[in-house]
Amino acid sequence: MKRVYVHTFGCQMNDYDSGKIRALLETDGYEPTEEIEQADLIVVNTCSIREKAEDKLHGFLGRARAIKRRRGAADAEDRVLLAVAGCVAQQEGEALRTRYKDLDMVFGPDAVSRVVEIVRQAAHEPVVDTAFLDAEDYVFADQLDPRAASQVGAFVTIQKGCDNKCTFCIVPATRGAELSRPADQILAEVRALADRGVREITLIGQNVNSYGLKVPGERTFAQLLYAVAEVPGVERIRFTTSHPRDMGPDVVQAFRDLPQLCSHLHLPVQSGSDAVLRRMKRFYTRDRYLALVDELRQARPDLALTTDFILGFPGETDRDFEDTLDLMAAVRFHNSFSFAYSPRPGTPALTLLDRGQEVPADVALARLQRLQARQRQLSVEANQAMVGGVFPVLVEGWSRHDEGVVCGRTGSFKMINFPGDPSLFGQVVEVVVTRAFANSLKGEQARLAG
Ligand code: SAH
Ligand code: SF4
Ligand code: F3S
Repeated sequence: MKRVYVHTFGCQMNDYDSGKIRALLETDGYEPTEEIEQADLIVVNTCSIREKAEDKLHGFLGRARAIKRRRGAADAEDRVLLAVAGCVAQQEGEALRTRYKDLDMVFGPDAVSRVVEIVRQAAHEPVVDTAFLDAEDYVFADQLDPRAASQVGAFVTIQKGCDNKCTFCIVPATRGAELSRPADQILAEVRALADRGVREITLIGQNVNSYGLKVPGERTFAQLLYAVAEVPGVERIRFTTSHPRDMGPDVVQAFRDLPQLCSHLHLPVQSGSDAVLRRMKRFYTRDRYLALVDELRQARPDLALTTDFILGFPGETDRDFEDTLDLMAAVRFHNSFSFAYSPRPGTPALTLLDRGQEVPADVALARLQRLQARQRQLSVEANQAMVGGVFPVLVEGWSRHDEGVVCGRTGSFKMINFPGDPSLFGQVVEVVVTRAFANSLKGEQARLAG
């Protein structure tokens, strides 16, 4: 039996693709391993969203190459095969092979469903596969990640690619055009996962709210949510990522109607300044975003919102930054991911840099730190407001820190640790919150009244 080690950088889409890579290779006799030293095939699934993400690949390849060289001659039958997959592979293609002669395979996200053929071919000659497929030829693999059976939650992809052109973003170049996966396939995968004991489904795509709109007769995203909610065994539904422009009233309504839909929404805003949003080509205003937040909270008063911010986007002034801080406080996000703007190859925002609109790195960093400090306060306050309350928690497994302590998430996506045992794994239990930190909670199982 040959062994495959898959290392994943990047977003939920890559995480999911890595699961498909493991699943497909399993059908060809490869057993997944967590030990890179024991692998016959090493796959690194890469991300290029920011320069730092791309740098991680180079660190990893240095290590992987050393293992490969130690394990045998480059022309031996049983040599270790080394593959780069994902967004950097798509972006760099052949150039990666030029830089790293030891690479046997470079393949992009569209090639995932062909991974078995690619690996077979690579045993004889190096393979570079970065072709984007036409919609008719694209295959959403339906094999399940072998890890899914032991997990309480799983991702299910509903679309690939992205048709937006946010000017900072590399994703349209690395993942190609948006394509919605047929709803019947999505529902079949959800049912298969629920049959294996998965309790929480997270529907994923770069812009889930535009699901189905370009396919005549396909369900809309809201209709898909209602259909998933009917699958027996699915206790919780989440989805990511939502673009504020495309979030329609029917999805807001779903937060009223569907108890399975968790009270958490990740709604990336990027900036609180209309001028910056315009240059990012996000196609919503600060007021529209705030109005949407109001509508969502009317539908689901306990909705916990999280977001993404980019600081130091070209032309961002102190005033723009104050507007962002102001919006952050107005919404009271429970958490946020914030990044200094990183110029990406071939993206439209580069022309703003050419026009001299670059924000100096130290200014961007200072803004980032101020925003993150403010977020920590907001997160602690949001979590402290939960102390004393009782919340249903889906138990995921042992806590990483203490013996006899289990962990899970509230509907609002807060990680909570509390004393428990394995009989609780995969169950939803009522937990009273006893302590709050910036990034997690502590609690105790609530005693039933009576
Ligand atoms: N599809 C999602 C986002 C995917 S990328 C959406 O539309 O919101 C995840 C996050 O990375 C983005 O929300 C953005 O905040 C950040 N990001 C993307 N490109 C970036 C860049 N060039 N520099 C810094 N951050 C970036
Ligand atoms: Fe990138 Fe914008 Fe598409 Fe998100 S919606 S993946 S930020 S282009
Ligand atoms: Fe990174 Fe590609 Fe996801 S660039 S964020 S892995 S779509």
